[in-house]
Formats: sequence, C-alpha cells, structure tokens
Amino acid sequence: MQPLTGGAAGVLLGADAAWGLVMAAADLAGALAAAARPASFSVGDGGTLTPVRPGDPAALLDWDPARGWILQLAPEHPQRAFVDLYLPICSARPITVGHLGQSLDGFIATPSGDSQFVTGPENIVHLHRMRALSDAVIVGAGTVAADDPLLTTRQVSGPNPLRVVFDPGHRLDERYKIFSDAETPTLYACGDRHLSEGESRFGAADILPLACVGDTSPVAELLDALHARGCRRVFVEGGGVTVSAFLQAGLLDRLHMAVAPLIVGSGKPAIRLEPKDVLSDCQRPAYRVFRMGGDVRENPPYPPSIVRLRAATPQDPRVPLPIASGLRGRARGGGRSTHG
Ligand SMILES: NC(=O)c1ccc[n+]([C@@H]2O[C@H](COP(=O)([O-])OP(=O)(O)OC[C@H]3O[C@@H](n4cnc5c(N)ncnc54)[C@H](OP(=O)(O)O)[C@@H]3O)[C@@H](O)[C@H]2O)c1
Repeated sequence: MQPLTGGAAGVLLGADAAWGLVMAAADLAGALAAAARPASFSVGDGGTLTPVRPGDPAALLDWDPARGWILQLAPEHPQRAFVDLYLPICSARPITVGHLGQSLDGFIATPSGDSQFVTGPENIVHLHRMRALSDAVIVGAGTVAADDPLLTTRQVSGPNPLRVVFDPGHRLDERYKIFSDAETPTLYACGDRHLSEGESRFGAADILPLACVGDTSPVAELLDALHARGCRRVFVEGGGVTVSAFLQAGLLDRLHMAVAPLIVGSGKPAIRLEPKDVLSDCQRPAYRVFRMGGDVRENPPYPPSIVRLRAATPQDPRVPLPIASGLRGRARGGGRSTHG
C-alpha cells in the first residue's frame, strides 16, 4: 500500500506502517518500562522504530515512564485514529480488554446462536489485530459451541496469542477445532470439581483447573492464573456472558463495543449486569467513537462504529479520569486492580 502524506506534521505513514508501528510499540513497552527512562523514536519503513534524541523533530513516538506511549502525530493525520485505538493496548502494565460486536438493539447473536456476522469485515480484522497485540485471548464455552473458532491472527501480521476457553461448568467436549489445532497453545479453564484426579489434558489443550469457591469470581481466578503465566495483555473476545462476568467483577480496563446497523429483535444479549435501582448507580464510562467500515457512507442513519469505553490510565494523558472508578472500581465483590 502506498504511504499517505500526513496532516500538519507532513509525516509519511501508510496503513501498513501504522500497524507495524503499533506492533513495534507493543514489543518495546516491557523493556522501556524496565529501563525506567524517557525515550523517543522516529518511524521508518514498515513502522520500524528507531531511537532518536528526546526533542528530535523526527520523533513520532515518545515513551514516558509514568505515562507510557505518547504519539506525536497531527490530529488530522489519516492514521491518527488507527494508532490511537491500538497504542493504549501496547502497555507494559497488565491490561484486560473486552470486545463485543452487537446489533443496534444490543444482541450479539440470534436465539439459535447465529452470529456470523453481526459486524462487518473491518471489525473482524480488528479482532485479529487485538489477538495479535494480546498475550492471551479468552472466549466462553457458548462461543466455542456456537462458532467453533480458531482464534488465530490469520488476517493480519502478528503472533498468535495463547487461546483460553472459559468453561467453569465443563460443558464442552473435545470435538471443537480449538482442542485439536496445533497452531498455538490452548488452555481449557474449567471447574476443578468436574475433573478427575491428575487430569491435565483436554484434547491437545492444557487444563487450567479453577477452584470456583468462595467470594472470588472465577474470572478473577482465571485472570490471576494468566498473569502468573506472564500473560499481561488479555483480550476477552466474547460472548456476552463471559465479557459481562469480567465487567461485573471490575476486571476490564477497556471495553470495545462494535455497534452494527442491524436489528436482531431478541437473541443472545451483549452486556448483562446485576440490576441497579437507580441510574446514578450505573456505570457511565468515558468513551471514544471510532468509525470502522466502508459502509458508513451508505448507511448514514445507522453508522457502524466502534465505541471504546475506557478507564483512563496513565497511558493516555489526554483523557481525564471519569471512569477510573467505572469499569474497574465499582464492581461489587471481586473488584480490584491488576495494576498494582
Ligand atoms: N457478536 C459477538 O461479538 C460475539 C462474540 C462471541 C460470541 N458470539 C456469539 O454469542 C454466543 C455465545 O455467547 P454467550 O454469551 O451465550 O456465551 P459465552 O460467554 O461464550 O459462554 C458462556 C455461556 O455459554 C454457556 N454454554 C456452555 N457450554 C455450552 C454449550 N455446549 N452450548 C451452549 N451454551 C453453552 C454457558 O452456560 P453454563 O454457565 O450453564 O455452563 C454460559 O452461559 C454464540 O452464539 C456466539 O456465536 C458473538
């Protein structure tokens, strides 16, 4: 793809290079955090990052030990929104991001479980990008039963994450592709009371036994186990029950909601949380809207978009902290920060 001329800064950065920049930033974040020093980078062909002196006019990306990545790309640059969407995920701290593609009326599938496809092809590519940036991708048992997904990054350049199937009730059997495919490892997270003594494999997958006892939410137990294995960036790709469990437990740092110009009427719901009596007790997170897909122009009344609900983090200084106590702080029971 031809590079595009940038906005006010006149920076040459095409779509492929912008993705290369994001992947390079994700790779570098851990080492930069360990070094605990500011750093600046110019961007070369394919998005490669080259260190430059802080303040160098060629610097396009700065690293601040307290704030993380800071993008020096003009607001009107054609790739600015793209990089803005992914750069906060390139964090050195643990980060958990949920995603759902829902209809205008809040469903992710029909009652029979048909969900292919709620959102357009651009959102599917977005899912693959999120997988590539993540150490682990989690789906619920209902998603495996309905979609038989592979959860690989085949539509973009980038590594496959660890695949995690969350099935506390051990309802699935081994027939699904994810339990035999060898392209990347799979963890099968299920309640230990459903396992026999010493059982450690489920097809080609490793079993992660979850105690599922006491006040600790099973999703909190799962997230702790993934952090203990070195998985810092975790992507919760669905379905609604599983993403809702993470949200209810206060464990999502960000939530990507892709809203499609579709009315399902009734079916599998997106987010479902414990009811509140009054709106003032409901979460009202800060958000940003990213257009996603070429059909925006053709359907002006219902533009598909991706709405990124976000807890402000030191990674992004431009946004105040309205829901630092929203997505993460307010949940009853399991709410706690993984940033400690
Ligand atoms: N549009 C999107 O973004 C998107 C993303 C992912 C999935 N989906 C669609 O959403 C649906 C799944 O989402 P979800 O919220 O229902 O579930 P989920 O979060 O994927 O998984 C958890 C739920 O699945 C149930 N489940 C477990 N084993 C099952 C089986 N063998 N057959 C059927 N259900 C089983 C579990 O029931 P128990 O608790 O009783 O064990 C639990 O309620 C599917 O239709 C999938 O195609 C859409």
